[in-house]
Formats: sequence, structure tokens, C-alpha cells
Amino acid sequence: MDGLRQRFLMCRPTYFAVDYAINPWMDPTAPVDTALAVRQWELLRRTYLDLGHQVELIDPLPGLPDMVFAANGATVIDGHAMAVQFRDPQRADEAPAYRSWLERSGFEVSDPKHVNEGEGDVLLVGDHLLAGTGFRTSHAAHARLQETFGYPVVTLHLVDPRFYHLDTALTVLDEQTVAYLPEAFSPGSRAVLRRLFPDAVHATTADAEVLGLNAVSDGRHVVLPEQATGLTGQLRDRGYLTIGVDLSELRKAGGGPKCCTLRLRQGRADR
Ligand code: ARG
Repeated sequence: MDGLRQRFLMCRPTYFAVDYAINPWMDPTAPVDTALAVRQWELLRRTYLDLGHQVELIDPLPGLPDMVFAANGATVIDGHAMAVQFRDPQRADEAPAYRSWLERSGFEVSDPKHVNEGEGDVLLVGDHLLAGTGFRTSHAAHARLQETFGYPVVTLHLVDPRFYHLDTALTVLDEQTVAYLPEAFSPGSRAVLRRLFPDAVHATTADAEVLGLNAVSDGRHVVLPEQATGLTGQLRDRGYLTIGVDLSELRKAGGGPKCCTLRLRQGRADR
């Protein structure tokens, strides 16, 4: 079986830096090697191309060091895009840049109206939208997502500041299955996840701490941080083909492969 061919939007980390701290991973006093970040990101892009995926690029803007994290640029489902509104002023100017790229590329774009950090907190699994809240995306944004996309939204409460976006605590593996760190969720949300995904892969804190859950799956291949060795083994045991990548520089800002990758879902067949 082949994986699903996907279309992604990425942003080269030309201006990547850690100049401010809006999550516990970020230490503005620690050195960052931007050239190495670019090389690591190029390898991620090459990995997607080698898997047969399509990668679109948005121009990076100076003064927006986190713009490399394209997953936070929108949520795009069935050819419709929900624009984003960042919690932190440092990232605010990324929102119109992503919005205008999507408009120029022919997507219909809706306004978020509440704090909503895009695919960082909103993940489609089969016919459900899993939506995180607690740190970034507001609960109010979830109702708007449901109304806009017409998929039932399942609200999940994140409780560990290291796993501040849903995509740092949970990976969609295919239409039926996810992998997640139970401890990153409130007791009620854990119960919801157990009910919806009885066969889910339960990750360990050690793997989540290297952002192992910030992975990208096409249903067959899973691209994940190579440091997540335990999770890699669990996924292989389930029959997934894992591809390890090293994004150590971007991890200094709290991001991994999934954060760098926005899915552009054109139509209904493209899940
Ligand atoms: N420094 C960025 C922030 O804190 C990292 C964003 C990572 N993106 C993601 N989809 N988890 O906003």
C-alpha cells in the first residue's frame, strides 16, 4: 500500500532565531545556528519530495523568526482555509502573510475571530476535527471551526506547558489512529481519546520531550524526529515505515517536523 500523496506549505527558516520566549523550549540566551536550521529544514523538504508529496513555499519575512512553523499559518480542509490569530504579539504579523498566500493560491479564507493557531491545534482524523485548547487556541475558536468546516469538533484540554500545541502531544497516523502522550491531556480529555481511539499508540514522556509526536504521516510513512527512538520502534511494530529527521535547531523554538508543515487539503477526497 502506498501512502496518500499530500500537498504541503512550508517556509524556509531564513530568519529563524530565538529572540523571545513564548513557550518553555525557548531560551533567548542560548545560541542558535540559523544556517544549520536551514540545512535541517531542507532535508525535511527533500524527504517529503522523495515520498512523492508536493511542497509549496511561502516567502519568509524578516523579523518573524517563528514563521518557519507553517502549521500555525492556517487550517485548510476541503479547499477552505481558516486564517489564524496568534496569542502572542510577536507572531501576529505572520497571520496576514499566510492569509494572503492562501488567497493568492485560490483558497477561500474565513476569519478566525478568536485566538486560533491553525494546524498546531487543529488536526483532522477521519471525520473528526481534534482541537486543542489550554495554552494557545481558545475554546471559542473550536465552535467556529465546527461551524466553518462542518466536521464535529472534539475539544481536548492540554495541561503540560511543554506540550502547548496539540501537534506536540498527538500525531494523526491515519484515518482511524493516532499516537499521543496521555499525560499531556486533562483526565476528561484522556477518557475521550481512549473512547475514540482504543487502538492508539501511547507515547512515552521521553519521546514527547524530543518532540517525537510532532510527526507527519501519510498513512504509511511517518516522518518524525530521529531522537524519538522508542516511538519509532512502536510505530514500526504497527507496520508504519518511519523516516527519522533531525530538526535540533528548530526544537530550540519548540518546533519539529509537523510544525514546519501545513497540509493543504484541496477537496473532499483529499483527507
Ligand atoms: N516558537 C513557536 C511558538 O511557540 C513554535 C511553534 C511550533 N508550532 C507548532 N505547530 N507546534 O509559537
